[in-house]
Amino acid sequence: MQFRDLKSQYQKLKNPIDKAIAEVLEDGNYISGKKVKILEEELASYVGVKHCITCANGTDALTLAMRALNISDGDGVFVPDFTFFATAETVALEGAVPVFVDIDLDTYNISPSSLEENICRVIKEGKVTPKAIVAVDLYGLPADYEKIKEIAEKHNLFIIEDGAQGFGGMINNRRACSFGDISTTSFFPAKPLGCYGDGGAVFTDNDDYAGIIRSLCVHGKGEDKYHNVRIGYNSRLDTLQAAVLCEKLKAFSEYEVSDVNKAADIYNKNLTDDVIKPLIPDGFYSSYAQYTIRLENEEERASLQNYLKENNIPSMVYYPVPMHKQTAFSEECDYFEKPLINSEKACETVLSLPIGPYISESDQIFICKKINEFMKEKKHS
Ligand SMILES: Cc1ncc(COP(=O)(O)O)c(C=O)c1O
Repeated sequence: MQFRDLKSQYQKLKNPIDKAIAEVLEDGNYISGKKVKILEEELASYVGVKHCITCANGTDALTLAMRALNISDGDGVFVPDFTFFATAETVALEGAVPVFVDIDLDTYNISPSSLEENICRVIKEGKVTPKAIVAVDLYGLPADYEKIKEIAEKHNLFIIEDGAQGFGGMINNRRACSFGDISTTSFFPAKPLGCYGDGGAVFTDNDDYAGIIRSLCVHGKGEDKYHNVRIGYNSRLDTLQAAVLCEKLKAFSEYEVSDVNKAADIYNKNLTDDVIKPLIPDGFYSSYAQYTIRLENEEERASLQNYLKENNIPSMVYYPVPMHKQTAFSEECDYFEKPLINSEKACETVLSLPIGPYISESDQIFICKKINEFMKEKKHS
């Protein structure tokens, strides 16, 4: 059994993907070929925003967003404490200070009340200038943008949506990657929409930001790439990846997101309430980058993970270390105000199970049976 079954997806889409790859190889425009433009138009239309600019990976997409918003030295950027490292790393790379905010344990996303508290604290302390909020759509579930937007407007902060895991999710039929002043995603192979290597994209309705980001991706190009108006990067999605993504996007929008939701329902129905299952608030729709359960404590999680391993069931801990305890940040005591209880609790107790649009029902039933058995045994021991 695989944690995310990418091979079955390739088998199903083999003909169109092989054909698309062969066309690029024959065409010979391996960088910035016509498939890149086609993909950007299709992604923008899928998400429902004016501009999509593809780039080399989801981390660069965040960096490009920060650069377009002029985030730099002396700025404070509020990020959830429970996320992948790149969310906070890219803030620090611009010389700004990531301020770690606690999460809501129900959704694992940034807690609006902790956000508000941290903004007020940072304003009071006066050491850094609050500039932006990076909200992460963790495990595929969009963050609470209605509340985040209210807070951002009150304090005059930008919103960056880190939709690396959230592509395909929705709030009341509005798609993920449309909620930020600038939103980003990743096409890392195991992401909801993944390519066959690294890839990423930036989304915005703002023409000025889009122009700056297009320039930054190609060495700060001006009217062409040999007239450079700013210091930029070499961050492009290559044509082969774009061709693969064009084919995968069809399957993604036609059935994959709905199939992964069906798989989540199978877990929801067959796992007992001895484990805490994901909560999807009313009006929200997840693209289930992960199906993550929560256990009582770290010991229970370790023994369940072990038991699953003995039964050849892969599982993962996303994430074992909160941002404020990462060695790279821990010496900078200004980054957070203790305690970040929910984030620490999540790091100790979450466990992600195999999921994806191609997982078989029989595998899922077997996984549920093993987890239920283990939990029952625990209860009676
Ligand atoms: C929340 C989050 N942000 C950013 C990234 C970075 O994306 P990439 O690996 O494409 O650079 C990831 C990738 O795992 C992620 O999960």
